Amino acid sequence: MGHGSGHTPRAGALVLFGVTGDLARKMVLPALYHLTAAGKLDLPIIGVAKTDLDLEGLREHARKAVGGVDDAAFGKLAGNLRLVAGDYRDPGTFARLREEVAGKGFLVHYLAVPPSLFSVVAEGLAGAGLNREARLVVEKPFGEDLDSARQLNDELLRHFDEDHLRRVDHFLGKEPVEDLMVFRFANTLLEPIWNRNHIRSVQITMAEDFDVRDRGAFYDANGTIRDVVQNHLLQLLAILAMDPPPSTDARAQLDEKWRVLRAVQAIEPSDVVRGQYTGYLDTDGVRPDSTTETFVALRAHIDSWRWAGVPWCIRSGKALPTTDLEVVAELRRPPVTMFRGGDAPPGPNLIRFRLQPDAGVTFDLLAKEPGKQHTRPVPVSVDFTKVLGPMEAAYERILADAISGDPRRFARFDLVEESWRIVHRVLDLPERPLPYEKGSWGPEPAAKIPPGGWHEISTTFD
Ligand code: BG6
Repeated sequence: MGHGSGHTPRAGALVLFGVTGDLARKMVLPALYHLTAAGKLDLPIIGVAKTDLDLEGLREHARKAVGGVDDAAFGKLAGNLRLVAGDYRDPGTFARLREEVAGKGFLVHYLAVPPSLFSVVAEGLAGAGLNREARLVVEKPFGEDLDSARQLNDELLRHFDEDHLRRVDHFLGKEPVEDLMVFRFANTLLEPIWNRNHIRSVQITMAEDFDVRDRGAFYDANGTIRDVVQNHLLQLLAILAMDPPPSTDARAQLDEKWRVLRAVQAIEPSDVVRGQYTGYLDTDGVRPDSTTETFVALRAHIDSWRWAGVPWCIRSGKALPTTDLEVVAELRRPPVTMFRGGDAPPGPNLIRFRLQPDAGVTFDLLAKEPGKQHTRPVPVSVDFTKVLGPMEAAYERILADAISGDPRRFARFDLVEESWRIVHRVLDLPERPLPYEKGSWGPEPAAKIPPGGWHEISTTFD
């Protein structure tokens, strides 16, 4: 498989498959509008879909998708829009697409379509010669386990090589996720303690306070491990646990992420607690006897000199008490307790990376309680948005990268393979997940996953 940096030409046109679909409406079209409004995007956008709409209808659809718009900016986007209506299994669709893109230079084909259509579209493109001078961008999920991911990859590789494939993991487009890397490697403060000698455990929480809503059928076929752990949260773990890349080169970063994922042991069922919220089985599209998990808490172990013996604990779920994404690293306690912590023993130092809804870092330190001889925890915080200003949305960065060709914010296949390997033994476990009430932190035994329990999520910065 080619891991070289290869050719990454800037695209002359964007072909958007599934232009009338859900993902395009919710994410892609709004992001294209914002990029256009910011003066960062001005190129032909050819929507493809099986639809009765004509071009005017598509423009109207896009306007609704985008919401409150600035007329001039929307006019520019609408002026760039084209439409090729047709079935993805009909070669005629691709023949018409070829006419539409003739002379427009390098192409980006963005597949905002269900995964079952990825290969169909790739083949249709190849049949019309549109796989040459072109990149193919596919959305998640990439496979449903290691074997199906490999099979899908083989099918795509028939028509596009690795250098011309981009697998979207929109978490990689989030500024706060990328900021973890900058925070780790632009500062010298963390690196000396960022290892097994000083860190007792790392806890990653991705909580959502809403249930599966209208996504019952999709969710029931996937579950939490497939939906967010295999991709988003293992990517996060890789960024947090990897060694410093030797350069800022995309390949150097991807290689280091791959190296650390290689060292993560396959997760065992005994290191996992799965839950299902009460009422899930009544959701439209969910099988009445479904054993799909809507919550998971697990421990991962990394066999490396840096991390051996340090549990990396991940929990995520739907219908939890809050919507938050936070990483907490717990430092080892001082070897001798010189100061008491009031009524309770003094807590450990914590390093918190808040990623969502707001972004920043908090160090939980201990200070002397005035007038007493014991300690009290004091948070030392930086709120990134306050200090640094607003951030770009993930999809804007993903689309900008798809167009420019920079591969670093996409999932290279060898990383995808490793993450499927890591979760392989805990996919589709036969046992019924433990029930939990909506608005709770999952089933009771989940509390025992990290040594000493989960640290409370910090509330937002004030
Ligand atoms: C998606 C999952 O990939 O990520 C959803 O399918 C989840 O279930 C979503 O809600 C979370 O993304 P974000 O960007 O809203 O935090």
